Amino acid sequence: MQKTEEIQNQKYSFLAKFFHWGFVFLFGYGIFKQVDDIEQLENISLLKFEILFASIFLFFLILRFFYMKKTQTTSLPAKTPKQQKFAAKLVHYSMYICLASICISGLMIGLFFWLGLKSGILIEFIISLHENSISIIYWLIAIHIFAALYHRVRNDGVWNSMVPIWKEKK
Ligand code: HEM
Ligand code: HEM
Repeated sequence: MQKTEEIQNQKYSFLAKFFHWGFVFLFGYGIFKQVDDIEQLENISLLKFEILFASIFLFFLILRFFYMKKTQTTSLPAKTPKQQKFAAKLVHYSMYICLASICISGLMIGLFFWLGLKSGILIEFIISLHENSISIIYWLIAIHIFAALYHRVRNDGVWNSMVPIWKEKK
């Protein structure tokens, strides 16, 4: 049985792994250098940097999404229950949507601020969208890591297909 599962587990390409782990790093950096207060955007070089960072992040996010969709498939063993396959897809797609929402709302905050709309209901609404997307992505990442650990314990090849450390034993 284990053998069949291994055959059905696909190996992610180098680029797929590079995108995955590159994004973990980029996202971590984005959180680390976060804007703590809207007043900070008065600093024009910080505003420019935020906009550049979010644009690059969004560009590679879209590129990654299409690359993954066109060339790669999940490593879940073929016999995985339908509901579990659906749950994995739901979390993966939600992570893409949430990351895009963080970038787009961030870019909109930047644009509005640059246009002089520095306070008011509209910018407050976009900031709350930005902050809510960030809260949701933390939950999704937690579920995702929990699921990855579950597969590591099951020893079904999913962990090995993406994670370079603490390898499952064949
Ligand atoms: C910022 C944090 C993370 C994000 C946004 C993220 C996102 C994703 C996404 C969207 C996929 C689906 C394949 C793709 O489109 O690239 C994926 C696959 C995967 N990730 Fe993550 N990931 C994160 C962190 C992690 C961590 C820390 C681990 C391990 C501890 C992990 C383990 C895996 C595994 C094993 C797969 C393969 C799942 C499968 O083939 O169905 N990820 N990740
Ligand atoms: C990938 C890009 C980005 C990431 C990962 C990110 C991350 C964050 C994080 C973690 C917070 C704190 C949320 C909280 O405390 O609940 C935050 C808040 C905020 N971010 Fe971003 N951000 C990004 C892009 C941008 C951009 C482009 C702008 C505007 C130019 C921006 C402006 C703000 C503002 C105004 C706040 C709210 C500060 C306040 O509470 O007054 N962000 N962002």
